[in-house]
Formats: sequence, C-alpha cells, structure tokens
Amino acid sequence: MEPRENTPLHTALAAATDDRITFDLAGIEAGYDTLRRELPGVRVRFAVKACPVDEVLACLAAKGAGADAASVPEMEQALRAGVPVGRMHYGNTVKSDENIADAYRLGVRDFATDSVEDVTALAVHAPGSRVFCRLATSGDGALWGLSDKYGCSPADALLVLETARDLGLTPAGLSVHVGSQQMTAEGWHSAFEQLADVLTELRRRGISLDHVNLGGGLPALGYLDRHGRPLDPPLDKIFAVIREGTRHLGRIPGHRLAFVMEPGRHLVADHGAIRAHVSRLSARRGPDGERRWWLYLSCGKFNGLYEMDELRYRLVFPTHQMAGRETEHVRAVVAGPTCDSDDAYAHDSGLTPVPRALASGDPVWVLSCGAYATSYMTRGFNGFSPLPYTWTGPAGRPDSRTEPGG
Ligand SMILES: Cc1ncc(COP(=O)(O)O)c(C=O)c1O
Repeated sequence: MEPRENTPLHTALAAATDDRITFDLAGIEAGYDTLRRELPGVRVRFAVKACPVDEVLACLAAKGAGADAASVPEMEQALRAGVPVGRMHYGNTVKSDENIADAYRLGVRDFATDSVEDVTALAVHAPGSRVFCRLATSGDGALWGLSDKYGCSPADALLVLETARDLGLTPAGLSVHVGSQQMTAEGWHSAFEQLADVLTELRRRGISLDHVNLGGGLPALGYLDRHGRPLDPPLDKIFAVIREGTRHLGRIPGHRLAFVMEPGRHLVADHGAIRAHVSRLSARRGPDGERRWWLYLSCGKFNGLYEMDELRYRLVFPTHQMAGRETEHVRAVVAGPTCDSDDAYAHDSGLTPVPRALASGDPVWVLSCGAYATSYMTRGFNGFSPLPYTWTGPAGRPDSRTEPGG
C-alpha cells in the first residue's frame, strides 16, 4: 500500500530532504467523512492521544468532531485547536483529585469513571457533573487489549452509577473499549451484548442513561503483522455489527440513547508517514554463529515506532524502486538507531526483504504510522530529538503546502 504517486502524502514524502513525520490532513478529513457515513448518528470524539498534533485536531474540530481527552494538557490543547468544551470529555478513568478539579475549572462536565473511589472524588471535585461508566472488555481479537487496567464488571458498573446518582452526579452513560486495532467483528458483538445486559438492569433500578460511548478500537488498514503479512481487518463487517448493535441498544426501553465514539488510530494511522533514512545496512555473525543482515534506520521504537512490538510498518525505499528493473534484495532485521536492543523487530517472526544496495543516507518511507507516533517519541534518548512534523493542508484550503511544524 505505497502512497499513490501525486497523492499529497507521496508528494510530501518525495519532497522531504530530512527526517520528519508528515500528515495528510485532506486524507484525515476524508476518513472522518467516511466514518460518519458508515455510522450515521454516531458522534465522533477524536482520541487526542492518538495524534496530539495541533493541525490534526484543528482540522477534525472544523469538521465537527469533539475530543476524548485523557489529561488536562490534552484538554487545553484540544480547546486551543477549536474543540468546544461541550464536545469534550475526560475519558481517562485514572485521575487525581487535582486533575478532576483542573478539568472542571476548564469547563469539562463529562467524565469517564469505573470505580466508587473515582466517582466519589468526582462528586467532590466536579460537583453535578455527568459521568459514564466504562465496562471492562476481554480485549480478545485486538492487537492491544486494554483489558485489565480500565473498566469494571457489570455488577460494579451498577454500583458506580447508583453511587453517582446518590452523590448528586448525573449517571449519563456507559462506555466500552474493545481493544486497539480490534481485528474482529466478534469483539464488537460481545461488547454490545454486555452493554445490553447492563442497560436492561439499570432500567430495573430506575437509572435512565442518555448515551453509550463505544470507545476506540476501529482498525487502520495499512499495517503488516509481526510476520510481515498484511493485516486485513474486516472493516465492513465491523461497521455492520456496530450499526446493528446501536439499533438494538436504542430499542431497549427506559433510555434515550445517543451514541458517541472515540476513534484514534482509524482516523490518522494511514494518513501519516515518516521520512527516515538508512543509517547502515550491514551483515555480521551473531552469537548463534549465523550471519544476519541488519538494516539500521534513523528512526525506530523510541522515535515514534513504539508499536513495532506488535506489528510491522510497510517500508518504501524510493531511490531503489526503478520501474521494470529487478532489484537484488536481502532479508534483514530492521532496527532503530538507539543502543536499546528492543529497538528492533523481533527476528524470530521473520526478516524483511530490503534492497541489497541500500547505502547510508538513502531515504526510507515508513507508512501508516500516523497514529501514536508523535505521542511515543522519547525526548533525547541517546541524543535523538523527537522528529519534527509537517502536514499537507486540508481539502479546500488553497495553500496546501507542506509546512514545518514544531
Ligand atoms: C479511552 C480511550 N478511548 C479511545 C482510545 C483510542 O483507541 P484507538 O486508537 O484504538 O481508536 C483509547 C486508546 O487507548 C482509549 O484509551
């Protein structure tokens, strides 16, 4: 899935003469429009953590998206980018008294919760606010399950929402997260079943909710798995299950439900790419006596490619792709530039074919890394600075140039 020639991303990557991460805002906008078409009636609050880049947030805000913020600095950034405070919630169940009070001072009135302790703190530091309780999911079928650290059992959710009501908060909703890069429609199906059970029991207890937050988890389409095979999530089927699931929940009596979603990865991953360069392609014999090729890049796990633990990114070597000409390849372990040995794809899951003639300094494009890359850049580990970012303008804006970011 190399970016097609003459697309904004291809043009920006081809024009870059030094390392950077670049975003195609028109692509992000188009993805947002498609998502709204596929899931009519589901409001989108972009998960800021997936791409805390001002221009990305501003372009989504201008399309009408809200923000799922996990911290007060994320809220402040989203507000600066133009997200109205009424379209924002505090989506992190982990927060201190001070965090809650600061968010409340900013005007945030919607809070995720998953425990009696947290909801009690919300009643003190965000009095009268609206809360939604996150149900734990198994995370099965997702690359990153998010299963243990957040969310509670159905029985605890009843207790948490009853406590909210008793403490003067508004028990407003339920939420789930099916796990990030959820690869199955079944993951969604079981989340809807769980939501239906809890909604039915809440009604029995006299609690009426006004929304369900479906969380994140929608997949990106351009990744390779740990073995280098394309990951091919059944997106159409997932959309169909979500449409049917929301219809089903909407028919449960006793609630008047709106639906919200917090996609992160799905909206940005395939519209961001890194221009890196070859540090060295070298071969050496390891302690096991085997001679292996290593491709060291200028960018790796600590410069934005943290998720190389679970997937591989598609690599393009633009100066070695002559149309109609056979290029000699070797199979190599691809690794980043730091002195940490985790900064490499695991070689027990297979090697990556790379051109034999790669030379130090040759450009490399790392595709589909627009999600979580800017959030996962270390500051100065081994002296490597975070990559600068650039973007190509949103659709309809005349000056759709690539501009240097901060
Ligand atoms: C509460 C919450 N919402 C949304 C997201 C975004 O998830 P994704 O990038 O899988 O869409 C996350 C990711 O960790 C999350 O924790």
